[in-house]
Amino acid sequence: MKKTVTDSYVLSNGVKIPCLGFGTWQSPPEEAAASVRHALLAGYRHIDTAAQYGNEPDVGRGIRESGVAREEIFLTSKLWNDERGYDTTLRAFEKSLKNLGTDYLDLYLIHWPAAPHRFSDWKELNGSTWRAFEKLYRDGYIRAIGISNFLPHHLKPLLETCEIVPMVNQIEIHPGMLQPEAVKASEEAGMLIEAWSPLGTGRMLKNESLIALAKKYGKSAAQLCLRWVLQHDYLPLAKSVTPSRIEENMDIFDFTISDEDMAYIDAMPYFGGSGFDPDKVDF
Ligand SMILES: NC(=O)c1ccc[n+]([C@@H]2O[C@H](COP(=O)([O-])OP(=O)(O)OC[C@H]3O[C@@H](n4cnc5c(N)ncnc54)[C@H](OP(=O)(O)O)[C@@H]3O)[C@@H](O)[C@H]2O)c1
Repeated sequence: MKKTVTDSYVLSNGVKIPCLGFGTWQSPPEEAAASVRHALLAGYRHIDTAAQYGNEPDVGRGIRESGVAREEIFLTSKLWNDERGYDTTLRAFEKSLKNLGTDYLDLYLIHWPAAPHRFSDWKELNGSTWRAFEKLYRDGYIRAIGISNFLPHHLKPLLETCEIVPMVNQIEIHPGMLQPEAVKASEEAGMLIEAWSPLGTGRMLKNESLIALAKKYGKSAAQLCLRWVLQHDYLPLAKSVTPSRIEENMDIFDFTISDEDMAYIDAMPYFGGSGFDPDKVDF
C-alpha cells in the first residue's frame, strides 16, 4: 500500500506516476496559481489540468513560483472536445505546452470521447485523435498518453485500431459511483484508473454515514474518500484552493480502511455526482 504522497503507480510503459494528484478544475486564475504553488510546497508532485479549465498559464506560473524542478513534477493536461482530429490535436497540444510554459507533458488525455449521440463518425474521430497522441508520444513530447471518460463501448473500437494502448483512463469515481464496467474494461487493457471528483466536487462531504465512518478513524470524510480510492488501487485527483484542505487531503497515508468498511462504502447507493454522462453531454 502507498505510504507517502510521492509513492508511485507504474504505468504500462514503465513511467512512474505519483499516487495522489492535485486537481485544478474550476480554479480561477489567481487561485489556480496559488493553490498549485501551495500543493507543490506541501509535497504534492502530480498536477492535473486541462485546456478547457482555462488556467494552464496559471498552473504553469504556480509550478514556476514553487521553485520545484519541472522534472520532479508529473504534469497532466487534456485535449478539449473542439480540438479532436489529427491536425487540430497536434496544434492544441502545442498551445497547451506554450500556455503551461513547458516543453513536454508527463500525461496527455483525450478529455471526452467523441460519442455516437453527437458524431456519426465518432469511431474515426477518436481514432484520428489518438493517432496524433501516438505521434506526440513517439516523438518524445509526452511521457504517457491516455483517455478520459471512455466507457467500454467507446474503448473497444479504439483498442481495435490503436498502435499504442492508452496507459490511463480518468473517470468519475467516488462513493456511490464506482463505474465497475469502465474500470474492468480499462484495467483489462492495462490502464491505470484515475478517479476524478473523488470528493464528488464536495458533495460526498455532507454525507452523514461517511462523516461518522471517518470519525472512527480520526479522519475527515474527505480523507476517507481519498483513502478509499487509493485502497482500490485507483489514483485520486483531489482539488482544493484552500491551503488547510490541500494539506488535509494529503494526510491519508497513516490509516487503513478495514475490508468491512471498504465493502460498506462500495455498497453505498448513488447519492449525487456530476451528472455528466459521456453518451449524453452536449459539450
Ligand atoms: N477528466 C474529467 O472529465 C474531469 C472532470 C472533473 C474533474 N477532473 C479532475 O479531477 C479533479 C478533482 O475533481 P473536482 O474538482 O470535481 O473536485 P473534488 O476533489 O471531488 O472536490 C473539490 C471540492 O471539494 C472541496 N474540498 C476539497 N477538499 C476538501 C476538504 N478537505 N474539506 C472540505 N472540502 C474540501 C473543494 O473546495 P475548495 O477548493 O473551495 O477548498 C471543492 O469545492 C479536478 O480538479 C480535475 O483536475 C477531471
